[in-house]
Amino acid sequence: MNILGIETSCDETAASVVKDGTTILSSVVSSQVAVHHPYGGVVPELASRKHIESVVPVIREALDKSDTSLSRLDAVAVTRGPGLVGALLVGFSFAKALAYGLDIPWVGVNHLEGHINSVFLEADPPPFPFVALLASGGHTSIYHVRSHTSNELMGQTRDDAAGEAFDKVAKILDLGYPGGNIIDELSRQGDSRKIKFPRPYIQKSSFDFSFSGIKTAVNRHVMTHADDFKGQIADIVAGFQEAVVEVLSHKIIHAAREKNCRHIALVGGVAANSRLRAKVKQDAEKNELKVHIPSIHLCGDNAAMIAAADYHYLKAGTVSNLGDDVFSRIM
Ligand code: KG4
Ligand code: ZN
Repeated sequence: MNILGIETSCDETAASVVKDGTTILSSVVSSQVAVHHPYGGVVPELASRKHIESVVPVIREALDKSDTSLSRLDAVAVTRGPGLVGALLVGFSFAKALAYGLDIPWVGVNHLEGHINSVFLEADPPPFPFVALLASGGHTSIYHVRSHTSNELMGQTRDDAAGEAFDKVAKILDLGYPGGNIIDELSRQGDSRKIKFPRPYIQKSSFDFSFSGIKTAVNRHVMTHADDFKGQIADIVAGFQEAVVEVLSHKIIHAAREKNCRHIALVGGVAANSRLRAKVKQDAEKNELKVHIPSIHLCGDNAAMIAAADYHYLKAGTVSNLGDDVFSRIM
């Protein structure tokens, strides 16, 4: 079964053709980073306009690269939410029209379930049930995943998402946007033990997160070291990153033990972080747990994960209707 996936929830226009929910025939991601860079964050109106420009060429490229003509598509998958409404509507409306024109089924997919399903695009995926840490720019949550289409939310951030904290700290230090990758790289030159930031556990037994305090702590450090902080940038970001990574790793390992799961998945844009990948693997090994982390290109937003999730909805007989709409957040 060939499924065309379309993703336009935020600042990436993406399309992909995936066979049987596991084999990526093509995956094209057109980033809008250059458009939003001058503003230090995503400007929703600009995102929508850029998606309108890119959606047709990106889909065409995905079809060409997979050597799949429109007539060989069996279904269309598209992100329904959460995300920016104006951005979501571009992909969603396109998917509806295309599926209607081709007379094939289409499914509106939850973006977060897409991220969770990204591990099934790799060899050796986790068996059910497993626990998943989803850390991205908009969400930081822990799920007990029972099947491709069923999961229980165990905890989530009460304020900033982990990726948002990376982006905001990069903004405070004037390092550029998006901050995650920049901080990841810079941290390699720093010493994470030099400047110690608080570990925001809330309670060690809780699966909820809070990252706004650590961002404030970085801001306070910068204000109280106005004369010399520029010479400490690598140590500041390394110290900040270590604090975030320690909390994320502690909570996902704790969740696996709570649910008696031997398998952990790490997904979302922040799962690309080299220190997080290393730390979770290390901590999991100590606890005799197995970690599943997608390749870097599947951590950030992409359409292959949307097509992968869609496959299982279709198999379960779920299809969307023309009257369905996008949603910006989960109620
Ligand atoms: O999953 P994603 O592409 O989009 C959302 O659904 O939000 O995640 C984007 C987030 C951004 O906040 C970005 O700074 C962060 O992921 N990110 C990283 C890294 N690469 C991307 N954070 C930490 N380290 C990285 N290497
Ligand atoms: Zn995402």
